[in-house]
Amino acid sequence: MSEWKVNKKDEAMLNNFVSDQKAQVILDGKTYTLPVIIGSEGEKAIDIRTLRAETGYVTIDSGYMNTGSCGSNITYLDGEQGILNYRGYGIEELANNCSFVEVAFLLVHGSLPTQSELSNFSRLLGRFALLHEDMIHFFDHFPPYSPPMSILSSMVNSLCNFYPEMTENPVEDIDLMSARLLSKIRTIAAFSYRKSLGQPLVYPRHDLSYCANFLNMMFDSPVRPYEVNQNVVAALNKLLILHADHEQNCSTSTVRLVGSARVNLYASISAGINALWGPLHGGANEAVIEMLEEIYQSGGDYMKYLDKAKDRNDPFRLVGFGHRVYKSHDPRSRIIKAACDQVLAALGISSDPLLDIAREIEEVVLSDSYFVERNLYPNVDFYSGIIYRALGIPNNMFTVMFALGRLPGWIAHWKEMWDDPNWRIGRPRQIYTGPTRRPFVPIDERE
Ligand code: ACO
Repeated sequence: MSEWKVNKKDEAMLNNFVSDQKAQVILDGKTYTLPVIIGSEGEKAIDIRTLRAETGYVTIDSGYMNTGSCGSNITYLDGEQGILNYRGYGIEELANNCSFVEVAFLLVHGSLPTQSELSNFSRLLGRFALLHEDMIHFFDHFPPYSPPMSILSSMVNSLCNFYPEMTENPVEDIDLMSARLLSKIRTIAAFSYRKSLGQPLVYPRHDLSYCANFLNMMFDSPVRPYEVNQNVVAALNKLLILHADHEQNCSTSTVRLVGSARVNLYASISAGINALWGPLHGGANEAVIEMLEEIYQSGGDYMKYLDKAKDRNDPFRLVGFGHRVYKSHDPRSRIIKAACDQVLAALGISSDPLLDIAREIEEVVLSDSYFVERNLYPNVDFYSGIIYRALGIPNNMFTVMFALGRLPGWIAHWKEMWDDPNWRIGRPRQIYTGPTRRPFVPIDERE
């Protein structure tokens, strides 16, 4: 791989935000003064980058609840007020006015595309949509019912073998790299679904938009040609936009951490896909539908499930509720809830028993003291599964859909990390709590 280069214009990005304010720490009777950083939206941080060198102390922060791992100019979110902006634009405006491809361009490049930039980017997406034919054989050798997320991460990881030129100038060629990856991951996702059904692969079409092309590869059949429905395309665009980035969440932090060892984009994204798979993260959308189906099948008594969720001796959690950062509401869930009604109406689905149960659960939860006291609101996953179901996307593909949406964010963060002059390999400290040094015991003397 070629040598990576620091982008001088961004040098000391975080250092540009050091304020006049100071923090003091008193340790062993000595006072240490630490800088305070205030971000462009007023977020405050105590800069402890010199703490261990100066004091010998580290900080402990399980789950990184209070730790900022980097400066970033991609996404701003305010969990208390329920605000989410990509590159300074409100999520509501982007979701209501843009295509997913425009938002992907925005995240990767930092500004909304002009008409000609968008046309060029879309052309690249069309050009790169095919997979190397040798890669297609891989799909034949996964056992039946393999989880699509494991297929997706394996195939994305193997992209660097087929397209090694994509790893050579990662930052300079970000246009090509992001278009290739966005385009190929869509083909991989659709092919993995077709293979799981034992149906023939449907190749990408140059004349279709990003989302229409994906839907066509998923659902077209030699015996029943797929007719692109613009309401379905619009809903898919919206869902992908809502998932496109979410600052330092588990999968994005994984992409950054893996990439910080200077590993290529594909390996880093593959690691992010695996992190997203977890039921506490992206896997929650599938788990929500499973939970709603179980409630419906067992007669609709959702109160039993709410009681289980509130029982501290029961590990069950009400999936689709709660968020590490949002403590008032998740702005994405409001947009999705409205989109859910529109999609069902556009598709002529007059009622959906799972949607009815979901609405009732939400209403009860929002006035239940257990959930209110813990600031547990519906998150983005609570309604997204219902829309995916209405679009004909099977449960086991929901998290793959999330990965398709999150890809531009992962690419943008990987690039930002790669370019960051403050970059260091990610390597947290720990506090050791095991035995202190003890004499070695030869095997025949051990009891
Ligand atoms: N159901 C019941 N109780 C809950 C739930 C829930 N969904 N979520 C949190 N709680 C309770 C916890 O038991 C805890 O209660 P306690 O204070 O009495 O011990 C309290 O709320 C705080 O919970 P934490 O686990 O400390 O919150 P954390 O920020 O670590 O977790 C998470 C956030 C993982 C999202 C959690 O709310 C959860 O498990 N939700 C269900 C899974 C889910 O929907 N995940 C999708 C998240 S969105 C996304 O990744 C795209």
